[in-house]
Parts: sequence; structure tokens; C-alpha cells
Amino acid sequence: MSLRALDVTDVHYVESLSPGGGRALLPPRAWYAASDAARLSLNGRWRFRLAAAADADDDAFAAPGYDTGGWDEVRVPGHWVLQGDGAFGGPIYTNHLYPFPVDPPRVPTENPTGDHLRVFDLPGDWPPAGDGEAVLRFDGVESCARVWLNGEELGHFKGSRLAHEFAVGPLLRARGNVLAVRVHQWSAGSYLEDQDQWWLPGIFRDVTLLHRPEGCVADFFVHAGYDHRTGEGTLRVDSEVPGRVMVAELGIDIATGDAVSLPVEPWTAETPRLYDGVLATAGERVPLRIGFRTVAVEDGLLRVNGRPLLFRGVNRHEFHPTNGRALDLETMRRDVVLMKRHHINAVRTSHYPPHPAFLDLCDELGLWVVDECDLETHGFVEQEWRDNPVDDDRWTPALLDRATRMVERDKNHPSVVVWSLGNECGTGRGLTAMAAAIRARDTSRPLHYEGDPDCRDTDLYSRMYASHAEVERIGRRLDGGTLKRRQLPFILCEYAHAMGNGPGGLADYQRLFDTYERCQGGFVWEWIDHALAHPAYGYAYGGDFGEELHDGNFVCDGLVFADRTPSPGLIEYKKAIEPVRIEGDAIEGTARITNRYDFADLRGLAFTWSYEVDGEPVATGTLAVPALDPGEWVEVKLPEPPAGAAGTAETRWTIRAVLADGTAWGPPGHVMAWAQLPVSGARLTSPATGARPVRSGALITLGPAVFDARSGALRSVGEVAVAGPRLDVWRAPTDNDNGASWQPDPRYGPLWRELGLHRMQHRLDAVELLDDALVVRTRVAPAAREVGFATAYRWTSDGTRLRLTVSVVPEGDWKVPLPRLGIRLGLPGAASGDGGPVPVRWFGGGPGEAYPDTATASAIGLWHSDVDALQTPYVRPQENGARADVRWAEVGGLRVEGEPPFWFTARRWTTEQLDAAGHLTDLAPGDTVWLNLDHRQQGIGSQSCGPGPLPQYQLHADEAEFTFTFAQLPR
Ligand code: GAL
Repeated sequence: MSLRALDVTDVHYVESLSPGGGRALLPPRAWYAASDAARLSLNGRWRFRLAAAADADDDAFAAPGYDTGGWDEVRVPGHWVLQGDGAFGGPIYTNHLYPFPVDPPRVPTENPTGDHLRVFDLPGDWPPAGDGEAVLRFDGVESCARVWLNGEELGHFKGSRLAHEFAVGPLLRARGNVLAVRVHQWSAGSYLEDQDQWWLPGIFRDVTLLHRPEGCVADFFVHAGYDHRTGEGTLRVDSEVPGRVMVAELGIDIATGDAVSLPVEPWTAETPRLYDGVLATAGERVPLRIGFRTVAVEDGLLRVNGRPLLFRGVNRHEFHPTNGRALDLETMRRDVVLMKRHHINAVRTSHYPPHPAFLDLCDELGLWVVDECDLETHGFVEQEWRDNPVDDDRWTPALLDRATRMVERDKNHPSVVVWSLGNECGTGRGLTAMAAAIRARDTSRPLHYEGDPDCRDTDLYSRMYASHAEVERIGRRLDGGTLKRRQLPFILCEYAHAMGNGPGGLADYQRLFDTYERCQGGFVWEWIDHALAHPAYGYAYGGDFGEELHDGNFVCDGLVFADRTPSPGLIEYKKAIEPVRIEGDAIEGTARITNRYDFADLRGLAFTWSYEVDGEPVATGTLAVPALDPGEWVEVKLPEPPAGAAGTAETRWTIRAVLADGTAWGPPGHVMAWAQLPVSGARLTSPATGARPVRSGALITLGPAVFDARSGALRSVGEVAVAGPRLDVWRAPTDNDNGASWQPDPRYGPLWRELGLHRMQHRLDAVELLDDALVVRTRVAPAAREVGFATAYRWTSDGTRLRLTVSVVPEGDWKVPLPRLGIRLGLPGAASGDGGPVPVRWFGGGPGEAYPDTATASAIGLWHSDVDALQTPYVRPQENGARADVRWAEVGGLRVEGEPPFWFTARRWTTEQLDAAGHLTDLAPGDTVWLNLDHRQQGIGSQSCGPGPLPQYQLHADEAEFTFTFAQLPR
């Protein structure tokens, strides 16, 4: 083939609407990880030169012999802005705003352009020239690339997260091949890639040279359906180059294009049964991993193999805290394994096709995939969608190119069950054209696009961030809409915004999905925080790289932290979607076990019980549970409670389902579901009365406690110095408290601050010395407002323990719920000795963080930790770390018992310091451990993008009374 060099200074392709060109650019085809044809990875260190504009440097560098001596180096795959310690510019984070003037398809003159150069030899065993051809494959380059090999131009392309191949013809040499790639950060393609994420230019996925032997495999399409009525699978592989298809395990050996039907085990995300096969043409053998399954929308439900499924999904962006969107295989596998361990069964590849190897992992380990096209034009919303590329025919070829590249690349994955046209593009004819093109090529998968409220082009009704109430209306088919829409299944392609602390309300959504068959689940937004490692901040978010336009920490909204540690949100989600429901009646001594899988039976699970007395397991055993089919339940008898165990103690059964044997993603014993069945309730603390308060000079003593006689403030309990305690209603607002500006619901964080809840004043009204009590009366209220709380602290003692009853009566017209209601006290950090860990023990909910609407994963038990480990490291510091349903806690030399059970947080900084911090590195531990003992907490919700906390989780300013009993711990 003869290749033509383009004009030296010609950069017209950057702003052209064309998706790509050049004579060597090949049409898209199926992607496969391996075959017996030779291949050479060109990943590694590349020479690199950065220019400030697209045409700043000429293309002389592409010619063999060019001296790159003065150039830098970058890692490929990688993003240059994340390499070179800032010398190559920096990342930019915007949610939907284009970081350049909107004047499509023009882009700024300042267009960072990275020239990449790699010189390579062919390996010794590479087939000799004349034996076949070769193809150069780029799996992902952001946003526009122009490619030369040995001085000859191959072409150029856009479509950052899609594969592009070039025929390299006779250009290859045995030694000293010069591959030159010019990458422009901005191009016309950038208008189509306005996803909410960092803008990260570079060659960020693999570059591979593929030998294409004579008679090699070209494109092929594996059709592997499953008929649930007959139990038969039907296999047909259409191949551009004819050949044979072999599946040894099934005894299949057929010609391409022929179909065969025979009994098989179907593929599902829960039972990812793959059959190894081979596609053999005259010149190449390509391994196939075949999963038989049939996807259909029938009777208003999305079904696989005849059964409706429930997405317990997440939106997954590709992200790594140092490598950006350049993910290695191990990181991809880690994502899938983590998801499987937390019962996540589905991924929406928001908002672009992932690295294709990720889909191989989804096939292998079992995840339903909504594969989304690399398309978002959200920034046009700023101009009422004027000039939106998806509604402008001139852009349609680029849109079709993207749709086609996705479908052709990914069509052979059983895990891909839905195609998605893209995200947040408004509406337009271009989307309709994409839908038509996809349907023309693949009739076996339904189409998704959330921005199509009438479902003109789609097969699923999809919403993002719909409230529980709306989901319920949809479930009951009362939501209206077009006739077509009303007949379609419903999914939440995004819900439960996991930004910072939260999301709240997951279990409530799950109840709706379990109740209404039309509601087939959803995808939590999102899987991972996109926080970038940063030398000063630890982890950085928008604005930390000096961007002039940015959206702050809106980019940190994942169920796992950037280092892939599960956040409490993931633990809560795991509980909400666990595949076995365990209920029961401890009095009757029975447990009811329900299989909540859509396809799998319970054969792989073992069931255990433990009987706990005041949180301590005193006996354990196993429960025999049959291998229930999906949806089936059984009632099993619990053993007799261990003799003599009860007495006055609090007792409960904890029943667990665990993996009996290891699976590909989880070890034996991995907890798959659990429940606690209380037997006898919480013991009441004894009253702690009898001692007399005695005044001597400036002090009052009462049992072990010393108070300031003038202010009534507690000074110490035994030898433990105490600051406070005082009524506290403030918490450092969470991202969900702060809410999103576009949300119609009240945004409590700003309202709380406006009201002054962060600067309450405490007026002393009386210090009353009674016969058996010290009563301190106060009014707690913010400056400039009439609202407040009449607050009385009533102290009593039995001589060794000190009991406090707090009575709170709201005054004035409280119009907003409160952040929290409880007391705050300071304990000396000296209790921690040398500044080392401050141990904490408690009996109550744990081991992790919980708030009223994030508490289903909180298990009652005896827990221990230390103050620092109680903190949840949300990237932007905010309220965190509460433990729920606490009966007693021991920290800083004190034991606190509560009635009723309480919430506690303990930290080595104040709430005010937490509130003021922008990054975790702003938080410096002080000498005091600040302990909040809360009677109630406000729920969390997910208002940073979705609805706020449900009414039942709101903390209204009502009259309240609660009690704590303090005692010094033995030293
Ligand atoms: C959605 C959008 C996502 C993300 C999310 C907020 O509207 O589709 O990409 O921006 O909001 O985090």
C-alpha cells in the first residue's frame, strides 16, 4: 500500500468534524486479547516533546534519524499531564463546563500537543517481510492523534476511548522502526467528550503491533444464545474470513456462518459459565470464550435467559490515583474482584467503553455490563443546547463512527447485555441515527440512553437521581409518559450519589426494587473517587492544580476511595444488596432464609450461627440450609440457646451465610449475608443516684465529679479532666448536607450555617444545688436569631458513677432539621500517653461508620479500635465516623453508658477544625480527644446530586431527653 504524507503544517484535522482519516486507517473490528499471530507491545518509555499549540512544531520529528536527544520521556500508556512533576502542564477537572470557549468545532490556539516517539526493532521471531501484513493498534488516545511510521503518515483519529487500527503495509523494517504520534489535547472530538472527569490528554491505553498473517481472522461476530425452555444454546460465528469454529468441550466443530444447537449451561453474571473455543482461519487461531445467553425485553421486563434481572450496579469510570485513566490489568481485576465481593452484579461503563480487557474480566468473573459509548455534550446545556452536536447532521458521521467502534470492538462479550448511546447529550437526530446503526448491526441487545424521556430510541426507561417517591410511582406504573415508555422496564442508570459521606437511603431504594417488578435496579454513582495523588494535599481534587475553571471535589464521589479502599458507602451497599435475606424470630427459635439471586442457587454457601451475650459470642455452630433456587425460601430451626447464658444480659443470634469454598473472586468464609436476631433486650443502666452535691469555695463535688460552682461546668470525673460537656447541634457539613445548586430540595448545610448553628452561644440561667442533684439550666442559641434550646443538665451520682440527664426544649420557630443533637466533651489527649493511638472500645453498632440512613451494615457487637482509626478519610474533610446504637463506650479514661443507646464520634480535632479543612492534610491532631455523644443524627441522603434524606431520617427540633452515665476507667 502506498502511504501519502500530509502537508507539514496541516492541522486542519484537529478541528475537522471527521472522526479520522488517512489511507491506512482501518474499519473497526472485534477486539481480542490474544491469538497465535505474533504481536509486539509498544508500551514503555517513549520520547516526548510538549508544544503549546497544535502547529507549533513541524512534523520533521516523524522522519527516521531525527535527533530526539533534547526530548523528555513519558510512560505509555499514560497521560503526560500526570508525568513530569508539573513540567508537562496539569490535569483539569470540570463536571460539565467545557474548559474552553464553546464555538464548535473550534478549539483554543493554546492546544497542548505532545509529540511521542518510539524506536523499535522487530523481535527475532517476527515473520519475515512478505509474510502477511501488520496492523498498529491504539486502544485509547485523548483526544486526537496523528500517526507516522518510518516517516510515512498513516492517518489521524479522534474518539479517545475507542480502538483505532492502521495498516502499516510494507513500512515495517527489522530494526529501527520509528513510530511517531502527535497527540493534541483539544480537538473537535473534545466537544463530544465532555464527561464529568479530569481532562487527561495522552496515549493512555496500549499500543500494539499485530502481525496479520496471510488468511488471518478479520472481523467476527459470536452469536451464542440460550433457550431457557429447551436448555439449548445456539452458536453461530459469523466471520469475514471463513474458517472453522471449535468448542472441544461441546464437541463442536462447525464452519463459520453455520449454527449448531445443543444442551449447554448458560452464562449469567451469577454463573459466568464460559466455554473455551477457537476460531480458526487459514492463517490464524483466535481463542474464543463463549457464554450462551439471550437478552430480551419481554412483557415489559428486561430478561436474560427468560428471567427478569435486577441490576445491583455501579457506574465505573476508569481511574487510578497516579495513572489517571491508564489502568493496568491488575487494577482492572481488582475492581471486578472488589465488586464481586460486595455483591455488585452490574457495571455501567460510564461514560465510554472501558479498556477491552476489563470486559474480558466481566465475562470471566461475571458482571452484567451496560457498555456506553464515548459521548457526552453536556456543556451545551449552558446555551440551552444550541449547536448541540447530537442534533447537527454535520456531526452525525462522527457519532456513527463512535457507535460503530464500540459495537464492533465489544460485540463478542457475553457480559455486555445493553448498549448505551452515551450520557447527557440532550436529544437529537444524531442519537437516533446511532440507535438505528446499532440495531442494524446487533439485534441481540437492548439500547439505553437516559436523555430520551420518551424512549423513542431506547428499549429501557432510564432515569438518574430519581427520588424514592418517583421510583415508587414508576414501579406502580403511575408515572405517565408515552405509551411506549410505560411498557418498558425501568432502571436508574445513576442514583445514590456517593460523594463524601454517604450515600444515604440505599436500603430504601432496594426495597422499592424488590417490591416493583418494573424497577429492575440501578447503578450507584459511582465506583471510585477520582482523587489524584498530590505532593502537598495527599489527594487532590478540582482546583488543586490551579485550574481557572473547576468543580472542586465533585469528582470525589465513589464507593471506594482513590486507593480502592472500600468506603463505608460500599459496605452499606453490600448489605443492601446481599444475595440472601435472613430474617427470623428469636423467640420462636426460627430463621427464614430467602435466596435473592436471580439465577444462582445457594449451593456455594455455608450458614453459621453465633449466640452472643453482651456482644461476646458464647457459642457458635452451623445451620443446615438447602440449596434453595432463586426466590425460594425456607424456615430453619435454630438450636436451643446455650444454657445459663441469658440472665440480665443482652443476647442475640447472629446468622451468617459465607462462601463455603473459595470462588474465583472470594476466599472461603467470605461473608455473603448476615442478620442479627435479638433475644433479650438492652439492659438498663442502674440509676446512679444518692450522693449529695457539696459546694466548697469555687467548686462543687458530686460523687467522683468536680464542677465549677459559678458556671456549673464539669471539670473532672475522678482523675480524668473533662472539658464541657455542652449541648452540640453542629456537624461539619457533608457534601450531601451541602447539596447541589440545581437541587430543588432545601440545602441544609448552607441553611445551618446561615442560621448560625456553627456558632451557638450558651447562656447560663441557673446552677441549682438540690439534695440529690446538681441542675444547670442554660439557653443555647445562635446570635441574631430567636430560635434556641432551653437546655437543662441534671447531674446525679451514686458515689462512683456520674449520671447526666440532658433535657432539651426547642424555642422559637425551627424551620430546618438539625445536624445532630447531643453533647460534646473534651478529654485529655494525655490519656493517650505519648500521642500514640487512643484506644476505643464500645458495645453497639460497628465496626464501621453509620448514620440514620446508612446504618444497615452496622452490626451490634463488642468492638475496639482507636480514635484515629475511627475517622473515615473523605477526601474533603467532613462529618464522618459516627458509630450507631452504642450502649457504652470507653475512651480517654472514661466509660460512658447511654440511655437510650447513642451515637458517638471521637476525634483529635474539633468539629470547627474539621469543617475548616479543605484536605486531610489540613487536619493536625491536637492534645484533646473531642467526643460527641449524640442522641440523634440527621440522615445523609444523596443531595450532592440527588434527593436529600427521606423524612423518616430527618432530625427535627423536638423536645428530647437523654442520659449518659460516666465512670472513670480503672487505670
Ligand atoms: C450525572 C452525570 C455523571 C456525574 C454525576 C454527578 O449527571 O451523568 O457523569 O456528573 O451526575 O457526579
